[in-house]
Amino acid sequence: MSKAQRMSLALFLVLNILAAPVAQAQRARRDVERSIEALLARMTLEEKLGQLQQLDGHADGRYKDEQPELVRKGLLGSTLNVRGVRNTNELQRIAVEESRLKIPLIFGFDVIHGYRTIFPVPLAEASSWDPASVERAAQVAAAESRAAGVHWTFAPMLDIARDARWGRIVEGSGEDPYLGAALARARVRGFQGADYSAPDRVVACAKHWVAYGAAEGGRDYNTTEVSETTLREIYFPPFRAAVEAGVGTFMSAFNDLNGVPTSANPFTLTRVLRGEWKFDGFVVSDYESVKELMNHKLADGEADAARLALGAGVDMEMVSRLYNKHGAELLRQNRLTRAEIDEAVRRILRVKFRAGLFDNPYADEARERAALMNPEHQRATREMAARSLVLLKNERETLPLDRNLRSLAVVGALADSQLDMIGSWSGDGRKEDAVTLLAALRAKLSPRTEIKFAKGCDAPCASGEGFDEAVRAARESDATVVVLGESADMSGEAASRSSLELPGRQTDLLKAIHAAGKPYVVVLMNGRPLTINWAAENSPAILETWFAGTQGGHAVADALFGDVNPGGKLPVTFPRAVGQIPLYYNHKRTGRPSDANNKYTSKYLDVAWTPLFPFGHGLSYTQFRLTGLQLSAARIPADGRMTLSVEVENTGRRAGDEVVQLYLTDAASSVTRPVKELKGFERVTLRPGEKRRVQFTLAPEHLGFYDREMRFRVEPGAFTVTVGNSSEGGLTSSFEVFEQRTPRRRVSSGRVN
Ligand code: BGC
Repeated sequence: MSKAQRMSLALFLVLNILAAPVAQAQRARRDVERSIEALLARMTLEEKLGQLQQLDGHADGRYKDEQPELVRKGLLGSTLNVRGVRNTNELQRIAVEESRLKIPLIFGFDVIHGYRTIFPVPLAEASSWDPASVERAAQVAAAESRAAGVHWTFAPMLDIARDARWGRIVEGSGEDPYLGAALARARVRGFQGADYSAPDRVVACAKHWVAYGAAEGGRDYNTTEVSETTLREIYFPPFRAAVEAGVGTFMSAFNDLNGVPTSANPFTLTRVLRGEWKFDGFVVSDYESVKELMNHKLADGEADAARLALGAGVDMEMVSRLYNKHGAELLRQNRLTRAEIDEAVRRILRVKFRAGLFDNPYADEARERAALMNPEHQRATREMAARSLVLLKNERETLPLDRNLRSLAVVGALADSQLDMIGSWSGDGRKEDAVTLLAALRAKLSPRTEIKFAKGCDAPCASGEGFDEAVRAARESDATVVVLGESADMSGEAASRSSLELPGRQTDLLKAIHAAGKPYVVVLMNGRPLTINWAAENSPAILETWFAGTQGGHAVADALFGDVNPGGKLPVTFPRAVGQIPLYYNHKRTGRPSDANNKYTSKYLDVAWTPLFPFGHGLSYTQFRLTGLQLSAARIPADGRMTLSVEVENTGRRAGDEVVQLYLTDAASSVTRPVKELKGFERVTLRPGEKRRVQFTLAPEHLGFYDREMRFRVEPGAFTVTVGNSSEGGLTSSFEVFEQRTPRRRVSSGRVN
């Protein structure tokens, strides 16, 4: 064999090896499609409608009495909340052994931030700005869920939230589409892995599709009115990222969107999701959101609601039963077609096949015992909690506290509340498992430090009766940790607030401790930004801990005493007053920019226009310096890319983390654009004195926007980049984007035509 022949043989073999997994995946896909068609051909209309039905179990994981019979008859395709291997196996056995077609059930559950081992709430995880840790958290949650018989989580929640009154802000990644998209990818990867049939993975569900977070007045379930540009640029990106990461399912939302409720909206459910994004999994409605189409007065009766939802692209109906009840009649009346029903069934079966349920319908009790609360999972949640902490303020190095304190006062009921530690949507979490800050401090400090605990008041802090005792404890101690905030049930679903103040008399309690004149620090536990103006102005140190999960107390105690150096950043803006809302960093400009010296500019009479703490803000126990911003080019074509880099140096005395953030500003464009937009970030850990060059790439996807005709394109012109450690300030530079012309023809004279 000649050298050339040997080379081409080698090339042929390499290409084949590389192509093998692709070919295998294509074969597997074809097999799945064939199996679906074979099954579909054997199904009666009732059995098809049965696959489209999801019903609720009991809160404790048991199934309801009527369900075995429904499953036996093929009239139920899925449940939610049924969990625990004994429960799921019992019901599954009926599906795969006693029903005519033996189609397995898919068991869904809200695993929002952990199954039994509870992780920090999603907004806290987002504060880590660390997709790898967030992916790991989702992976642990998936492993515990699948071991407990759950195949499918109703997460990640991808709603952008620009309004802190909305309680569900706690379930998401905050206000920014770029950060939201990065964490959407991370969570989908963590839940599903490369193949969600694996015994330690679950199917993910991107929810709530879409713009649910834009609820008017921040009032949950309220109507939304959002322009198509804002949908595409702000609310869609995390969902699109989830589709690109292979998410198996979507959940349609409760809200009305521009006049068409999202559970009956053909534009979002079919044109965008299926047409533009090629999503081939299934869409489940939110809880009774099909039936609620009647409350929206979109549907004129039950049958109409079923027709509108199914016709728009909602494949599975959660809890209400209108598809089942009216499907046959709608078909007879030609108000729904057989093809529409078949397509919904196909999508659901596709996910069931891909989840491996036909091959492995059962879960295993021994595996369940080994997985739940496994020590490795405890380490993972403690680490995640440590990475979620945001140091909002730290005057004169008040934090970390000295380990050799003779006495420490701990004030605030939240310091000792296991239930609040695990947050508002804590899966199968048990409060008994949770480590509070008080318990962690007791475990951490040596017996030489006396710990005095005084609640001050019980949530919601209506009375000041216990203040004196708390002040006495503070006076008699070397330092005080004041734990303030919201109880966990003040955020989450149906938990909107019209005030963002610390509830009850907590600010008075804080003032009383402050007046005691001894060193103290504030620890916040809350599910949304709060207007903590007094604390921000007067308290020496504030550590934002959100609801930090099963091992959260340890992580917070570690941070208070310097064993953890906080490195998180805010994924949401903290306003000064509720009246500033919506307040977000990537806002549009005005023709009358705010100017304190000119009355006729955009501002308030009674409060500054600026935030209390900006998006991206977060301090450290060490200091960092950014220098040497370099761009790979001063000019790039509209379809080109460029890299830019910056040097970050730890100039302080402790190891620590900085999140380097890249923001982009378009100098002028054919539609107005935000003042700045996050387009890159990286969390780096540096030893004292250590430097590192961090590199980012800018590509058309970062530079482009939706024009007046809703086409995504890059317009020529000048751009400014800002690289900093929050959305305010930083190093800046600019570059030019030029139009990419089609190559010019050469003429004989040698001149370019
Ligand atoms: C919530 C969803 C959740 C569903 C099932 C609804 O009320 O809006 O986020 O997945 O219930 O529990």
